[in-house]
Amino acid sequence: MRLILLCHLLSLIPLSAWAAVLAIDYGSDWTKASLMAPGVPFDVLLNKDSKRKIQSSVGWKKSDRLFGTDAYNLASRFPSDSFSSVKLLQGAPYDSDAADFYKTISTAEIVQTDRKTVGFKQSDGTEWSVEELTAMEFAYVKHLAEGVAEEPVTDVIVTVPPYYTQFERDAVVDAIEIAGMRTLALIHDGTAVAVNYAMTRTFAKPEYHVIFDAGASSIRATVAQFSTTGDATQINVAGVGYDRTVGGTELDRRLRELLIEAFSAKHKQDIRGNARGMARLWKEAGRVKAILSANSDAFAAVESVIDEVDFKAKVTRASFESRCADLKDKFAQPILDAIKSAGLTLDDITSVIMTGGSMRTPMIQAAVKAAVGADKLAYNVNADESAVLGAGLYGASLSRQFKTKNIKVSDINAHDVQATYFAAATSPNVKPRTITTLVYPSNSKLGSKKTMTFKRKEDFSIYLDYKNQVAPGFPSRMLEAELTGVQAAIANLTERGAVDAVVKATVTLSDSGFVAVKDAVAYGEVKDDSITGASSSSDADAVTAEQEGTESDAPSASPSAAATGATLPETIPLNITTKFPVLSPMSVDEKKKARTRLRMMDTEEAAKNRREEARNTFEAYLYRLRDLLDDETDDTPFMKCSQASERLALQEQLDKAFDWLHEYSDYAETSQFLDQRSILEVLEKPIIHRYQEIEAFPQALNNSQMWNWSTRLFLTEAKTNLTAEEETDTPSKWTWDELSALEKTLKDHESWLAEWVERQKSVPANQDPVIETAEMKARAKVLEQHLQKLWKRKAPPKARKTKTSAPATESSAPPPKATTPTEEEEPVPEQDAGQQEPIQPTPDKHDEL
Ligand SMILES: *[C@@H]1O[C@H](CO)[C@@H](O)[C@H](O)[C@H]1NC(C)=O
Ligand SMILES: *[C@@H]1O[C@H](CO)[C@@H](O)[C@H](O)[C@H]1NC(C)=O
Ligand SMILES: *[C@@H]1O[C@H](CO)[C@@H](O)[C@H](O)[C@H]1NC(C)=O
Ligand SMILES: *[C@@H]1O[C@H](CO)[C@@H](O)[C@H](O)[C@H]1NC(C)=O
Ligand SMILES: *[C@@H]1O[C@H](CO)[C@@H](O)[C@H](O)[C@H]1NC(C)=O
Repeated sequence: MRLILLCHLLSLIPLSAWAAVLAIDYGSDWTKASLMAPGVPFDVLLNKDSKRKIQSSVGWKKSDRLFGTDAYNLASRFPSDSFSSVKLLQGAPYDSDAADFYKTISTAEIVQTDRKTVGFKQSDGTEWSVEELTAMEFAYVKHLAEGVAEEPVTDVIVTVPPYYTQFERDAVVDAIEIAGMRTLALIHDGTAVAVNYAMTRTFAKPEYHVIFDAGASSIRATVAQFSTTGDATQINVAGVGYDRTVGGTELDRRLRELLIEAFSAKHKQDIRGNARGMARLWKEAGRVKAILSANSDAFAAVESVIDEVDFKAKVTRASFESRCADLKDKFAQPILDAIKSAGLTLDDITSVIMTGGSMRTPMIQAAVKAAVGADKLAYNVNADESAVLGAGLYGASLSRQFKTKNIKVSDINAHDVQATYFAAATSPNVKPRTITTLVYPSNSKLGSKKTMTFKRKEDFSIYLDYKNQVAPGFPSRMLEAELTGVQAAIANLTERGAVDAVVKATVTLSDSGFVAVKDAVAYGEVKDDSITGASSSSDADAVTAEQEGTESDAPSASPSAAATGATLPETIPLNITTKFPVLSPMSVDEKKKARTRLRMMDTEEAAKNRREEARNTFEAYLYRLRDLLDDETDDTPFMKCSQASERLALQEQLDKAFDWLHEYSDYAETSQFLDQRSILEVLEKPIIHRYQEIEAFPQALNNSQMWNWSTRLFLTEAKTNLTAEEETDTPSKWTWDELSALEKTLKDHESWLAEWVERQKSVPANQDPVIETAEMKARAKVLEQHLQKLWKRKAPPKARKTKTSAPATESSAPPPKATTPTEEEEPVPEQDAGQQEPIQPTPDKHDEL
């Protein structure tokens, strides 16, 4: 076992320079993952049941942690230990519509964390943050991926809806970190589908398509422009639309309402207070919804939904749809919103690409058809997997290690982002003016930078806010960036001759949709002492009060320095401290703690698994031994190779081991199982050894005889040749002495072999062998090496070494080839010996082990 592990590790070394890329399409019901790794075909990862999607759930059955469907199904028995649809709560404040909605669909208990976000409480009181549970799900996927990649997988790209706020993005990225992975990027799910769509297509003329994604948590639409130039395809996201209040989960909830009502009507009981019953009906609602997608009615049936009461009810699609009548207009609205936000009309759209699990719901399909026309609907991507495949390809292109089709992506943000700050105080009594400027209006390109200029002499803060409410209960304030060191820096510049030195700060909008204040500097144009005469003019006063707070896309440029030749642009870095005044992501410390917590749990589980495995193998070993000892027939290898006394000793020890197993195995530790086992193994070992030797003997003998035979053949030929060469005065490869030495080695080998093979013949199977196959191999190796040494020798120079050639002429030439072959012996690497041509006994395969 250890050997295999070692080889395994060694084989990883050349691969480790390549990092695998994991993509996770994290949905609130289902998670899909894809893996791009060297030597592994790019595909969707299978879960342990070989399914292509993993239910987004984690749960506990007593102390056993479960994932996927196992975890989801726990809810009907352990309603407060099964956690699903956690995605709905990413970054959400405890007092938000998202949390309130979650309470209506889940039986899990949610609590408020110190950060005022949502946490969960298990039945035993253990609490987890949303990030921690998400991290467990991510780590589970990582583990599956590592099983396929056969190497550590740390780089990951995760899909998020385009409307995700910074709070939600932070939660996802923090979960990735807690799971022990590195975020390559977050990618909007619609954009990921667009990448997948572009993989197999080229676009002679630019085309606009809408990616319609009906998920569990929401419905969203992305307008993307596709164009191809040469071998490069460009995807420009032009607009998005979304509705966070409709989606598969809301439909499930309404369908469950029907079931609850049917139950109340029939059984005159309220089931709402019964967590197990509610969890069972929830699961049933999902099943019935799927049936109603293809049928006009379905039967709901749940055994002992509550106190031994079985529940049965017929649900029609019509009743379900009428229950959702108010949502009808919402289903397709995101498409219209997205088109409008892109500044386009429906006529500009080539097709509406249908994706997402809820796309199959007939009323949603009908709504989309009614809104855009049947001819625009396209079912040409895999509705479930295109996002994760697109994300995987995009992630691979970011990692630059894999050759992928040349697809460039330009994405946008969904929300208006503004910067707010206080104007410089004009007098101590007057409250400073608040200045607000829209830094990144919605539809701004991701991966942008804007530099803002401020006329400031004191430290101050810039606040980044969403202009509008992003989701009910979510704050609009993202962060405060406090700029410090302003006073000293401005004073420095001013002292050096700068007039109206300013503060410049860069606000970034990252590729993954995060905004931040970065690179703040004090900027001024100082006197250039190297040029005499000209002094700064009013040109240097480039920044006027009116320009304060304006932003530009270009990094700070100096308009006047070059012109005047008298000043030099000078920057002094300022400190930026980012604070989260309302809703903060996890701190570095909190993440570290969470990571440690999850690691400890992994370690405990691994120890538990090892113990379980040690116990199982020990038990299996005992039964195997018992079967061997109980077998009445005399001709089993075990019987043939063992003595009565040995069997007796084994039997006694085996009885003890069984007693120990029954008495202690529930409490014993891994090492005790191993110790118990090794007591028996010591007794069994000589028997196994005899058997193995008997098995290996013919091969070993064959090998010895082969070298024996090959050497003999060689010697005969070599002697003949040498004699002939002597007669014709031709240089030879060998001397007589060398051939004699080889012959001696051969004879030693032959006589040893003859003697011990003879002796071994009379040793009974249940006695230890008198010669070991290992020794036979070693001795054959000595002969082999001696033979190879001579055999591999190069022929001496063709030119006859005549007595007439003048030795003096050789002075500048390389020394003449050795006259006696012994001098030109080359060291031959042992392992090369086997590669030589004609004398080549069949290599013994067992040597390779
Ligand atoms: C910036 O912060 C560092 C560390 O907090 C501090 O040592 C340094 O003095 C600060 N510099 C300015 C210009 O405030
Ligand atoms: C201004 O800062 C520079 C570099 O930080 C330093 O070398 C210089 O002495 C400072 N000048 C004044 C007047 O503080
Ligand atoms: C010895 O090896 C040769 C070549 O592999 C094979 O043909 C022969 O059957 C072997 N003999 C024994 C006894 O294994
Ligand atoms: C003996 O000589 C023949 C003919 O030159 C050659 O083919 C053969 O390889 C030689 N044998 C040995 C063992 O060197
Ligand atoms: C070694 O090989 C020679 C030639 O094939 C044979 O005569 C002899 O019996 C062999 N010796 C043994 C011990 O196998």
